[in-house]
Amino acid sequence: MGDNFLREHAVYQIYPISFADGNGDGKGDLKGVISKLDYLENLGIKIIWLSPIYVSPMFDFGYDIEDYYNINPMFGTMEDFDLLMEETKKRGIRVVMDLVVNHTSDHHKWFKEALSNPESPYRDYYVFKKGKKDEKGRELPPNNWQSCFTGSAWEKVEGEDNMYYLHLFTKYQPDLNWHNEKVLEEVEKIICFWMDKGVYGFRCDVISEIYKESYEDGKKRKIGDPVGSEHYVATQGNHDILKRIRKDVIEPRGGILIGECGGGITPEDGIKYLQDELDTFFQFDTQLCYKNGLSSKISMKKFKKILIEWQTKVDYNGNYFENHDQHRSTNKYVHGKHTDIGAKMILTMLFTLRGVPFIYMGQEVGARDYPKGLPLEECSDCVTHSVYKLARDKFHAPKAFSMMMARKNGRDDARAPMAFDQSEGYGFSALGVKPWQRYNPYSETYNYEAEKDDPHSIVNYFKKVNQLREGNQILIDGKIDFLDTDDKILNYVRVLNHEGYMVILNLTDKKVKYPYGFERIEKEHVLANYDDEAKFLRPYEARVYKINKKEEK
Ligand code: GLC
Repeated sequence: MGDNFLREHAVYQIYPISFADGNGDGKGDLKGVISKLDYLENLGIKIIWLSPIYVSPMFDFGYDIEDYYNINPMFGTMEDFDLLMEETKKRGIRVVMDLVVNHTSDHHKWFKEALSNPESPYRDYYVFKKGKKDEKGRELPPNNWQSCFTGSAWEKVEGEDNMYYLHLFTKYQPDLNWHNEKVLEEVEKIICFWMDKGVYGFRCDVISEIYKESYEDGKKRKIGDPVGSEHYVATQGNHDILKRIRKDVIEPRGGILIGECGGGITPEDGIKYLQDELDTFFQFDTQLCYKNGLSSKISMKKFKKILIEWQTKVDYNGNYFENHDQHRSTNKYVHGKHTDIGAKMILTMLFTLRGVPFIYMGQEVGARDYPKGLPLEECSDCVTHSVYKLARDKFHAPKAFSMMMARKNGRDDARAPMAFDQSEGYGFSALGVKPWQRYNPYSETYNYEAEKDDPHSIVNYFKKVNQLREGNQILIDGKIDFLDTDDKILNYVRVLNHEGYMVILNLTDKKVKYPYGFERIEKEHVLANYDDEAKFLRPYEARVYKINKKEEK
């Protein structure tokens, strides 16, 4: 698969509450996004993905939708949205919306109806099941499935006898029943509504998990996958639904689907998703290869192996190092003190691998996690709180350890307000306005205004890598081949019609010897994150050479 425009351009993710505050209430909104379109255009951005802006109680920051057809008043009005569509069109920027249809919010009228009237047709929009009883007659949920956000995946229905509903995420996010044809019809209607407004397509939230094949007890598959997931991850029913949606409403409108495919999908599943289903997708393996269960740092050795597997087996990955659920790449993938150079190395990799590069707001200026995290009482992410509670209540872990685990799994770091300049509100909001979440002290250093005139800045490097890929058929379509090097180096070539690029990346903060010798490369140096050349690779060094395959021999 692969829509051409999507293959040709990077996608810039906006987390609306933290991007730009247009009305001075300390929260980002659509007016704010419109005010920053010149900024995005100047960066060379052609596609933006908006995390959810629909009406929502915001328990999971919009990933709990109450009304799919209206804009959350916190973010503005439908007029603001229409203006955004007009203004992006003028600039040749396309807009991707987030589509969250594994679940709705418990505030959605369908769910309210389903609860208040078990006879209503909406009851079957969700998954209600009778609980079990153990030998002693005690009530148990219908099965042993766990929520991806800790605890049982079942919530007892108040006022009904032994009745539960399924929620793979929080209990405020009841799962939709994709066995019901009506649910598919509703979702296709939603898609058409927004496509008719001019959106380019959808980033489909946890789309690999929507179709539950059975409700049998689960066995634990591998670390990180919740119990039960083998019954609902990448099922045949899931593939069939995506094929239907694509054929019914996406293809006729020339739209795209980007899938968030969690739950431990394999490259083989990924290959299937790219056949008449999704244009590209995100896997989690390269995000979850931590040094160990307690560490919040990625093992670059594990990362390299996993990345090569995905890159060689799957035609067009959605490549990403950051998003609203992950820590900043400079904290997670870069070890030691060379974080600026490391940020540029990550950007080099992102834009030269095969697949679509996804960039998360702030990554272009090298945004960081908070230096020491946020105190628990300032954390708004439901995952931070549930992990802390689990560690304290179930495992009786000390406070500091519980906080460490909560921070590792929590998502508050990525959700700090954006920094555009050095004014008091960092260009996110106006002077004197209290932002919804505390500004990150690193905003002072890592912001566009502070970096724009410095030729060595991260943002100027970002512009270079983005420009290098724009219209570059070798990087867009060229095949990828990895060279055999030790774990510290990632070395690959991208080749199309005998022309290509050679990419050499030092994945570590140590000096390392390049085994093939640079002098053997018939080369034209096109990009590097160090100014001069050395005989060895310095910490996180990244070099991109233009090569001519015929001459190379
Ligand atoms: C996805 C979203 C995440 C959300 C979850 C449940 O993983 O990226 O933010 O909490 O789905 O909708």
